[in-house]
Amino acid sequence: MEERKLGNFKVLEEYPLIEPWAYALIVEDEVTGERKYIVKEAQLNEEESQVYKILLKILEWEIKPYDFSRAATTHEAVREYFVDQLKRIVSVYSERLGARKKGSIDWQKVLYHLLKDTVGYGPLEALMKDPFVEDISCDGVGKPLYVWHQRYEGLPTSIVFQSEEEVDSLVLKLAHIAGKHVSVAFPIVDAMLPGGHRLAATFKREVSVRGSSFTIRKFKEKPLSIVDLIIQRSISAEMAAYLWLLMENKMPGIVMGVTGSGKTTALNAIATLLKPNVKVVTIEDTPELRLTLENWVQLVSRHSYALTGSKTGEVSLYDLVRVSLRYRPDVIIVGEVRGEEAYVLFQAVATGHGGLTTIHAENVNALVKRLTSPPMNVPPSYVPMMRWGLLVRRVNLGGSTGRRMTNLWEIGEEEHILVGEWDPARDAHEVRLERSRVLEEIAYLTGKSKEELIEEVGRRSEILKALAVKEIRDYKRVAEVIYRYYNDPKRVLSEVRVA
Ligand SMILES: Nc1ncnc2c1ncn2[C@@H]1O[C@H](COP(=O)(O)OP(=O)(O)O)[C@@H](O)[C@H]1O
Ligand SMILES: [Mg+2]
Repeated sequence: MEERKLGNFKVLEEYPLIEPWAYALIVEDEVTGERKYIVKEAQLNEEESQVYKILLKILEWEIKPYDFSRAATTHEAVREYFVDQLKRIVSVYSERLGARKKGSIDWQKVLYHLLKDTVGYGPLEALMKDPFVEDISCDGVGKPLYVWHQRYEGLPTSIVFQSEEEVDSLVLKLAHIAGKHVSVAFPIVDAMLPGGHRLAATFKREVSVRGSSFTIRKFKEKPLSIVDLIIQRSISAEMAAYLWLLMENKMPGIVMGVTGSGKTTALNAIATLLKPNVKVVTIEDTPELRLTLENWVQLVSRHSYALTGSKTGEVSLYDLVRVSLRYRPDVIIVGEVRGEEAYVLFQAVATGHGGLTTIHAENVNALVKRLTSPPMNVPPSYVPMMRWGLLVRRVNLGGSTGRRMTNLWEIGEEEHILVGEWDPARDAHEVRLERSRVLEEIAYLTGKSKEELIEEVGRRSEILKALAVKEIRDYKRVAEVIYRYYNDPKRVLSEVRVA
């Protein structure tokens, strides 16, 4: 391949973000080896800039005030309304002006900039559209925006804010899009942007020394499916098949790891292995989970931002876990346990509910310690009620990093049985089901032998491998196959074997 250069930089990759207006360029400094993310965006020429300004004014005048107070007003509805009005204004105006200025104005380009700056994310629009960008953060004025890129990790971008006003107004805009208020009096926002992206921001110099700052953790449009995780070698088909059998039997479990290791992603993929008819209640601080189940109640906590420290109107995870029991769920899923809600979840599990959750812990011993200490205070005798624990880690793979489910334990009273383990040397998983006690429990409950269950894990592993080979990875399509397998295992298996 021909090498492309950009000054002192070697272009590693270029791909479209918003065709034909914005592209991403990943470049590498030939001397220092430092990498950078360049947003290449079509700029307006002088005439276009003038038109842009005029149109922005017209827009302010012409757009009939939208009734924002209507309860049904969603960001989508407002956006649609704006887009329609804008297109109309641009087309009327371009016709009027078009004859005189033919050729020198690209109206589509002007429209792109108008949309981006009014109903879009302004300077962040292109980055928000990049599916490889997981995180966008701004530490303040005069420093580049940083992104976390799925393939290149942390990269500085070509976007640098030159004035504090620019960052202030962007933070105001982001808070506004999230439907939240930010001001000198309330200088912190923690909110959800449309599409599930998570925004954390500070305003002016109230609480951040360098002025306004923000971080957006982007939400994938589609969650990674269990097949995605198998394809990426995060988990093996066999380990996933074993978890599938545990999920069929509603065996409670916990995913552990550090922040950003992939706990929620793993939890979501594993929850798809549940039987389609189970009744699930999920409880989260921010709605991240995306399940395929019909019978799913999604509860989200509510924070109050009162300055006085009073918690009026606050609804905590603890409150929600307690109320969730009234829904008579088969399985309660708590996005992440941090406090006293853990205790209620374990109580629910102890009384026969299925339960799944994630926790910040680096290994199984740290997990037990955290659970049994304040503020969680789970009685030690309750801990083994969570039958399995899965550790997710970001690991080094000689040059790049990846995410691997490195350990799978069956949690016991005295000792924990390691039934699955990732071998860094081979970048492969080893599963030792003959050790499993949980399979013995399931054998007892279902009247099957352990050997039969191990064979069943083998068949399910075959199904998952076939999906990986055929790249059937979309989470809804994967769920379809899993649900069909529950209904008619023989048929699905024979389909897989024939193909
Ligand atoms: N196995 C994986 N392969 C690739 N990307 C992953 C994987 N697991 C998680 N991610 C990505 O990493 C980021 C953080 O994942 P998340 O599950 O939210 O982590 P946690 O819950 O541990 O904080 C997300 O952008 C997610 O899409
Ligand atoms: Mg999480």
